[in-house]
Amino acid sequence: MIKSIICGAGHYVPENVVTNGDLAKLMTTNDDWITERTGIKERHHRKNRNDPKETTAYLGYQASLRALKSAGKTPEDIDYIVFATLSPDYYFPGCGVLLQDMLGCDTIGALDVRNQCSGFVYAMSVANAFIKSGLYKNILVVGAEVHSFGLDFSDQGRGVSVIFGDGAGAVVLTASEDASAGDILSVNMHSEGKHAEELCTMFPGSKFGWSDRMRLEPDAVTDREIYPIMNGNFVFKHAVTRFPETIAEALDTAGKTIQELDMFIPHQANLRIAQFVQQKLGLPEDKIFNNIQKYGNTTAASIPIALSEAIQQGKIQRGNLVLLSAFGSGFTWGSVLFNY
Ligand SMILES: CC(C)(COP(=O)(O)OP(=O)(O)OC[C@H]1O[C@@H](n2cnc3c(N)ncnc32)[C@H](O)[C@@H]1OP(=O)(O)O)[C@@H](O)C(=O)NCCC(=O)NCCS
Repeated sequence: MIKSIICGAGHYVPENVVTNGDLAKLMTTNDDWITERTGIKERHHRKNRNDPKETTAYLGYQASLRALKSAGKTPEDIDYIVFATLSPDYYFPGCGVLLQDMLGCDTIGALDVRNQCSGFVYAMSVANAFIKSGLYKNILVVGAEVHSFGLDFSDQGRGVSVIFGDGAGAVVLTASEDASAGDILSVNMHSEGKHAEELCTMFPGSKFGWSDRMRLEPDAVTDREIYPIMNGNFVFKHAVTRFPETIAEALDTAGKTIQELDMFIPHQANLRIAQFVQQKLGLPEDKIFNNIQKYGNTTAASIPIALSEAIQQGKIQRGNLVLLSAFGSGFTWGSVLFNY
């Protein structure tokens, strides 16, 4: 039987650190409010908005180089790319093809996933299915975001803009028939599109175009409708319900219990959500990995950044049972349970 193993992982964030105090110079906010509500102390934003290098695809490329190195692989070994982002370099095409070009890969397939905070777990579920079917042997799975170019840093946008940061993470998912190798044991993915407008960016979009010939309504810029909107309380309530559901499903499907879990990596949406879920599951402090304090919510990048850091810090060892779970815009949610 073909197994899917996480052969290597890597992450990359722009150098520029933006503290809560830095944000307080741009809008009416303060460190106490942000820390108490979200746990975030700082995040990374690309420094130069006009730097063509600091794009989403470029961050994904840097994370991919690190993942390839940790896997002992080269770009020539990769036979498929899955790239998750909500902040692509272009309206179209997606970032997968840009990464294929940056890495100098052959004309391999490159798929983009648009599932926001759940993007990485959705991307992993696709890559896992391709590996298990025997179609591909080494798939680069990437989550990357540049949020800082698209947030409203005025008082009107402060409820959203303090939360999000830029960054990228990647893993190399590899086929193995070695009996002692790890494997992805279960995946589950869910969606509930009726809540699409509770957490979304409306423009540019075909639903909200101004006329048949324009994607962006001229007033969308002055009315700030090009920025993300979020019904924070509503999102919070759904997240703390859906996380435990998807976690229970992942464990049940694989015939595992919460006590057998070595590490839980939740999407880094909000420290309060992660702590609520941790308490509900009865997970001890050393079995959950959080780094939102340093990076903010990096959406599709948050799980692979955390996974890469946890591996680097020795908090995940070969043979460990690890759970990745996410909830976000869509709404979408899901989990990936694996033996590392
Ligand atoms: C966003 C979130 C932190 C807001 O916290 P909250 O306690 O719900 O706060 P509210 O939105 O009710 O706002 C409370 C007050 O703080 C103010 N406020 C909002 N953003 C602020 C900021 N950055 N700094 C200071 N005050 C702020 C509001 O204007 C409001 O003021 P008012 O009472 O005078 O009207 C919280 O709803 C949350 O964590 N939601 C989940 C979000 C999430 O995880 N999203 C990602 C999902 S993938």
